[in-house]
Amino acid sequence: MLAVEERVRQYMKKLEPEFIRHLRWLHQHPELSFQEYETTSYIKEKLVSWGISLEESPVETGVIALLKGREEGPCIALRADIDGLPVREESTNAFPSLQEGNMHACGHDTHTASLLGAAQILAALREEIRGSVKFIFQPAEEVSLGAKKLMEFDCLENPKVDAIFGLHNSPEIPIGTVAVKKGPLMASSDRIVFTVKGQGGHGGIPQRNADPIVAAAAIIQAVQTVVSRNVSPLDSAVISICNVKAGEGTVNNVTPHQVVMYGTVRAYKPEIQKLVEARLKSLTENICAAYGCQGSLDYIYELGVVDNALSLYQAAYEAVVATGAQPVDPDPSTGGEDFSEFLKGAPGFFYWLGVRNEENDCVYSWHSPHFKADERCVAIGAGTYAMSVFTGIETLCKKSL
Ligand code: NI
Repeated sequence: MLAVEERVRQYMKKLEPEFIRHLRWLHQHPELSFQEYETTSYIKEKLVSWGISLEESPVETGVIALLKGREEGPCIALRADIDGLPVREESTNAFPSLQEGNMHACGHDTHTASLLGAAQILAALREEIRGSVKFIFQPAEEVSLGAKKLMEFDCLENPKVDAIFGLHNSPEIPIGTVAVKKGPLMASSDRIVFTVKGQGGHGGIPQRNADPIVAAAAIIQAVQTVVSRNVSPLDSAVISICNVKAGEGTVNNVTPHQVVMYGTVRAYKPEIQKLVEARLKSLTENICAAYGCQGSLDYIYELGVVDNALSLYQAAYEAVVATGAQPVDPDPSTGGEDFSEFLKGAPGFFYWLGVRNEENDCVYSWHSPHFKADERCVAIGAGTYAMSVFTGIETLCKKSL
């Protein structure tokens, strides 16, 4: 009897043409968040054909499914996001989007195809699984709502998930490699909204006004000192104001009553999020008061940190090695990912799957109309997901001894 990793590698090779067929179909049929109907039907049909049972889900799109192994044991969840973006494809992909104006520009098709591949491998190796596998094909990652909806429904219960694994492709690392990072991999992502209220009036007679634009400009300058003067140099944070709304049309001589500004905050630690929130509130209120205006800040906690569990690091590393891919240790990213929602319910581990190939034009960043992934990533992704079940269950069983 061959060791399980040997069998996983055999299936990766044997089923690769089928994995690539899934990828091409998915790439040609990108659907926007919460509208992934055709994608959902495609996934369900495949899972059922492999004898995997579909579970209840609170959302019409996306799929939750369960595969029971040979005996009772830990439950491992595997998660992939399935949505596309409203981007018009301009890539050199030989199987481009057939949906005008929509594209898998973040490569979620590679995640979906990888998880389908893993499902097929695991169904074939069902007798080797000492526990169960919950497959989560999650809708609407791009709008940061899909995971939240599933978690409100307690998708990590019945059976209770003991560990969850997920992945995202990365055009930053070469095909054949998978990033396995200890601790924080992706940042928290919070939304900030500043409201500055003043007294509008004639732009040529400023002494009669309380100009909210001048106060807003002072805030824009001051918030960057939170990163440089309040956050420790050994920690990280990003504060970006990305949208400033003031005045009407092209009017040039009316001071408005109000300025509203929208932005984002990124960090790797909850205590840094709290610190930034407190400092931004204080700066906003006090600067506005000094300029004769009223200021307020809404700080909306949107996504937590994707913090890879140290207890699963070894399992994750061994899973990648078992597929024959090369594990690499990347710098974390200040991008956000709603996989963090699932980490509120179970320890988890998130990989980056290398898709970069300079010879084949697979070099463009996420959300670019030129984005393209090397198709060979899908077999590696499928193998990584599948092996994570075996190494994950082994780790969990050892821990409970
Ligand atoms: Ni993405």
